Amino acid sequence: MADTITYDVVIIGGGPGGYNAAIRAGQLGLKAACVEKRVTLGGTCLNVGCMPSKALLHASEMFAAASGEFAHLGIEVQPKLNLPQMMKQKGESVTALTKGIEFLFKKNKVDWVKGAGRIAGAGKVEVTGEDGKVTTLEAKNIVIATGSEPSSLPGVAVDQQRILDSTGALSLAEVPKHLVVIGAGIIGLELGSVWRRLGAKVTVVEFLDRITPGMDAELAKTFQRALTKQGMTFQLGAKVTGAKTSKKGVTLTWEPVAGGASQEIEADYVLLAIGRRPYTEGLGLETVGVTPDKRGFIETDHLQTSTPGVWAIGDVTYGPMLAHKAEEDAVACIEMIAGKYAHIDYNLVPSVVYTSPEVAWVGKTEEQLKAEGRAYKAGKFPFTANSRAKINHETEGFVKVLADAATDEILGAHMVGPQVSEMIGEYCVAMAFRAASEDVARTCHPHPTRSEALRQAAMGVEGWTMQA
Ligand code: FAD
Ligand code: NAI
Repeated sequence: MADTITYDVVIIGGGPGGYNAAIRAGQLGLKAACVEKRVTLGGTCLNVGCMPSKALLHASEMFAAASGEFAHLGIEVQPKLNLPQMMKQKGESVTALTKGIEFLFKKNKVDWVKGAGRIAGAGKVEVTGEDGKVTTLEAKNIVIATGSEPSSLPGVAVDQQRILDSTGALSLAEVPKHLVVIGAGIIGLELGSVWRRLGAKVTVVEFLDRITPGMDAELAKTFQRALTKQGMTFQLGAKVTGAKTSKKGVTLTWEPVAGGASQEIEADYVLLAIGRRPYTEGLGLETVGVTPDKRGFIETDHLQTSTPGVWAIGDVTYGPMLAHKAEEDAVACIEMIAGKYAHIDYNLVPSVVYTSPEVAWVGKTEEQLKAEGRAYKAGKFPFTANSRAKINHETEGFVKVLADAATDEILGAHMVGPQVSEMIGEYCVAMAFRAASEDVARTCHPHPTRSEALRQAAMGVEGWTMQA
C-alpha cells in the first residue's frame, strides 16, 4: 500500500523556483515538501545552467587573459589548457552548490521527496521513486516549479555526441575545431564564447537579422562588434534546414531567410540553442483541470492557475526564463499562500549576458519606449572615458540611461562593458524607489571605479557629463 504524508504545501521541482519556495515556506513555519526527480537539488540553474556555464566562462576568460592581455600588463606566461581539470573544478563547484541547497532544506525543515511527482487530483501528488515505490503527498497547496527544457528544431536531432544542447556543450571532452551555434541568444553567445576563448572557431547562425532579440538594439550592435573582434563569425538571417551527422562531424544546411540558394557548413560540433520551452511532461495537469497554453506555458494570475490551490512559478509560467525571476515568483507565491501581501515588478527583473564584455539591462529599451510613444531623454557614457576602465585596458562599451522626458523618472538602464553584471543592481534599486536620473547623477560614487560610468550616464541625461 502507498504511504500518505500530509503537508501545508507541496512543491514539484527543486530548481531556483522550487527550492526558494520550499525554503521560504520552511521559514514561515509551513510544513513543506519539495519533490525533485534529479539526483541533486538546484534544477537547471545549479546543475546544467547558470552555475556550470559561469564556471566555464570564468575559467575560459582567465585562459584567454593569460594567452593575451597578461603580456600587455607585463606578465609573461605560457598557458596550457588542461580541459579535464577545468571541467573537474566546474563539477566540484556545482556539487558544493547543490549540497548547499540540501543543507538549507534541513535547516528549514523542508522534506526533499526524491522522485517524479505527478498531480493526482486536487491536493494530491504522487511521487514515484527510482525503485518504483509510490508515495502520496497531500496538501492544500501545490506549487508547480518544473522549469523548462531546450526547444527542438526539426531536422536537427540532438544526440549529445555531435549535435549538442547546452548540457552537452557544458561537458565536451575536447575543444571543437569548428563549433556552429544555432541561435544568437544568451546560451549560444555565452557558450560560444567559452569555446572560442579555448581555441575553437565559432560560427553563429541566427534566423533574425540581429543578435539577442529583446536587448536594446544599440547595445546589441556594440555587443556583436565586440564578439566579432574576438573572432566569432555571424550568419544572420539564416534558416537552418537540416543537419547530417557522421563520426567526425556535422554538415549543416541553411538558406537565407530573404530567399536564395541553400548552403552548407561543416562543423565538428553543433550547439542548438534556439530557446527553451516549459516542461510539464507527465505532470498530471489534466487531473486538476489546468491546461497549458499553445506554447506549453501554465497560465497564471498572480501565480495562481485557474484551479484554486494550484500555483505555478519560474520557467514553467510567464515572464523571463531567469533564475532570479523564478526566485521572485517563489517568495511571492509562498507569502501569498501564507496569507501575506506580495508584489513583483517584472519590469525590474534585470538581464545579464556573462560574456566579455558583459551586457546588462533593466527596464525598457529605446525600441519599447518608441513603440509605446513615450517621450524620453537618454544619457550615455562610454567606458573609454572612465578612468578605472582605462587603466585596466577594458574600455569597450558604454552605459545608457533612459528617463521620462517630463518627470525624469528612470525608465531603463542598459550597459555593455567590463563587469556590468555587478553594476546593474544599482539601477534596479534606483528604479524600485522610482528615482529620477538626477538622483543618481547627484549621488557621490567612489573614484576610480567603473561605477562612476553609471553616474556619468545619468548626468548625461541633463547634458552635464564631466569625465573624459
Ligand atoms: P528548473 O531550474 O528548470 O528546475 C525545475 C526542476 O524540476 C528540475 O530540476 C527538474 O528535474 C524538476 N522536475 C521537473 N518535473 C518534475 C517532476 N514531475 N517531478 C519532480 N521533479 C521535476 N538564468 C539566470 O538567471 N542566470 C544565468 O546565468 C543563467 N544561465 C543559464 C545557462 C544555461 C546553459 C541554461 C540552460 C539556463 C540558464 N539560466 C540562467 C536560466 C535558469 O537556469 C532558469 O531560468 C532557472 O533554472 C529556472 O528555474 P525553475 O525553478 O523554474 O526551473
Ligand atoms: P534565447 O531566446 O535567448 O535565444 C534564442 C535565439 O535563437 C534567438 O536569437 C532566436 O531568434 C534564435 N532562433 C530561434 N529559432 C531559430 C532557428 N530556427 N534558427 C536560428 N535561430 C533561431 O534562447 P537561448 O539562448 O536558448 O536561452 C534560453 C533562455 O535561457 C534564455 O532566454 C534565458 O532566459 C536563459 N538563459 C539565461 C542566461 C543568463 O541570464 N545569462 C544564460 C543562458 C540562458
